[in-house]
Amino acid sequence: MTSYDQDYQRSITDPNHFWKEKAQILDWIKPFTVIKNTSFHKEDFRIKWFEDGELNACYNCVDRHANKTPNKTAFIFEANELGNARSISFKDLLKEVCKFSNVLKSKGVQKGDVVTIYMPMIPEAAYAMLACSRIGAIHNVVFGGFSASALASRVDDCDSNMIITADASVRGPKTISLKETVDVALEESKKNTVKTVITVKHIGSKCHMKEGRDFWYYDLAKFMETTCPIEPMKSEDPLFILYTSGSTGKPKGVLHTTGGYLTYVAFTHKTIFDVKENDTYWCTADVGWITGHSYGVYGPLANGTTSVMYEGIPTYPDASRIWKIIDTHKVSLFYTAPTAIRSLISQGDEYTQTTTRTSLRILGSVGEPLNPEAWQWYHDVIGNGKCPIVDTWWQTETGGMMLSPQPHGMNLKPGSVDKPFYGVKPELVDNKGTIIIGKGSGNLIIKDSWPGQMRGIYKDQDRFFKTYFSRFPGSYSSEDGAKRDEEGYYWITGRVDDIINVSGHRIGTAEVEAAINNHFDIAESAVVGVPHLIKGESLCAFVILKAGSLKSNSIKGEVMQIITRDIGSFAKPDTFIVVPSLPKTRSGKIMRRILRKIATGDHDNIGDISTLSNPRIVVKIIELMDHKG
Ligand code: WT7
Repeated sequence: MTSYDQDYQRSITDPNHFWKEKAQILDWIKPFTVIKNTSFHKEDFRIKWFEDGELNACYNCVDRHANKTPNKTAFIFEANELGNARSISFKDLLKEVCKFSNVLKSKGVQKGDVVTIYMPMIPEAAYAMLACSRIGAIHNVVFGGFSASALASRVDDCDSNMIITADASVRGPKTISLKETVDVALEESKKNTVKTVITVKHIGSKCHMKEGRDFWYYDLAKFMETTCPIEPMKSEDPLFILYTSGSTGKPKGVLHTTGGYLTYVAFTHKTIFDVKENDTYWCTADVGWITGHSYGVYGPLANGTTSVMYEGIPTYPDASRIWKIIDTHKVSLFYTAPTAIRSLISQGDEYTQTTTRTSLRILGSVGEPLNPEAWQWYHDVIGNGKCPIVDTWWQTETGGMMLSPQPHGMNLKPGSVDKPFYGVKPELVDNKGTIIIGKGSGNLIIKDSWPGQMRGIYKDQDRFFKTYFSRFPGSYSSEDGAKRDEEGYYWITGRVDDIINVSGHRIGTAEVEAAINNHFDIAESAVVGVPHLIKGESLCAFVILKAGSLKSNSIKGEVMQIITRDIGSFAKPDTFIVVPSLPKTRSGKIMRRILRKIATGDHDNIGDISTLSNPRIVVKIIELMDHKG
């Protein structure tokens, strides 16, 4: 047995003992005596970890390192333009976070309030998150690529009373006005809960400031003390909510709490990246997604790690930018998404050849399946053949990594996410819930609780149970499909629900369809995902016009505008096609499986269409698609 096998067995057979030991990675204000108190069954459903313990997440991420290693760098901020990097030490971070906390308090923010953060990738985004956790406010980070409407609906859903934003962000050649979007969102907001907007002046663009509501951050901060007491939090007190797409309905406010989450992200980060004192780590994810929360802010900071934060895009000023940043700051641990890797492969070797990347030690991947060809390039070219790749499978809901290779002493199989992390009990089941033993494929479920798991859907506990624990009673359903080989290695095959993963952005088909249906001339639509060489998947939209509407050439452009308005431009379909009707079952359910086959050109394997109410439509749509191509 390897040491992984031994530790894994122990983590599963004696979780209380295992996690009691691992939770010492944090400093607790009041030590816990109860460890795991969980059940996935309807009768006694509960998920609580370390429930009688008290701690503060910000203290664990900032103060304790500022006390011990004040001059160690917490963040290296790399701006959009070349040659504009600056370092922030743990001592500075503490001061900045305290000032930010005092600004929030001066504007009336209290423990339990929800503060929305709509920010670019700049240090102030992390200060704002940490300031919330310092004073016990719940942050709700909304990705800066979301539109005003998407921001408004998220703010309304959680009754947030404050938004923190910046004037604008610079990404490559583009300037993105964030404050302007906030202004529009607040006009659209139905509940008007937001009383204060705090804007960080980042690039110096002009903003309309509404008297009594809008304040410039640094105008307030300059009067603030650089110390601020921490709020002791119960282990199960909320730390943050983060909206994510589901297969039905509106986005869900995924709720994470304090003790279990922080223990889990700190411990997974330390273990999977084998973090050492002098490592420089870089996670490229935006703070607007869970990866940015768990492995851009909380995990690395809890471990006192030096992290790079980059505002720009991988291809600016050219496709060597990422590798240059790695060389310049001697990055040793690098964590990114397959889409980024594939898009950089497609730019050609000249962009890697001007850099050495010799500082790299471990390479990570997350967000979508890393195909074997991309794996090989990442390994051979980027890692110079000497860095293990940790392909980590997890979800917004899981809080942290669930399936992953350990960096040392495991065989790496290109394309596989290897084996469960400590304390994680995965299982494969068929659609009836029958457990698959040994080699096979099926629905990926998790049999028992782990500390980092989400605790609820904000203000909707019924939906939480129903969404994740009712399909396979007694288990957490990931809604991913997976296969397992004879040696117990897992391979993720993709979502089994109606969520599509475009460039690592999780998009619910229901949301895109709802946006499309907002076009006056459209009666109905269906969106499916099709494989895409770089993005992993792309969207293909089939639409039916209302009776009497004439097909105009401008309709596609108009629909794209509506999607950009309602969700964000990242949710625009690559293929858009007007069809006379959609393949439906006799009970009226759209057969997406068939549309997917048509969209991928897999016409010979459409399968049985005799159960359709209108089987002839299949040939018609194929003709229309062919015509288009
Ligand atoms: C979905 C979760 C986890 C942080 C980023 C995405 C897919 C995630 C992998 C991987 C294959 C992966 C799954 C999952 N996914 N990691 N290593 N290999 N697929 O978080 O937005 O909540 O999306 O991303 O389909 O369910 P998310």
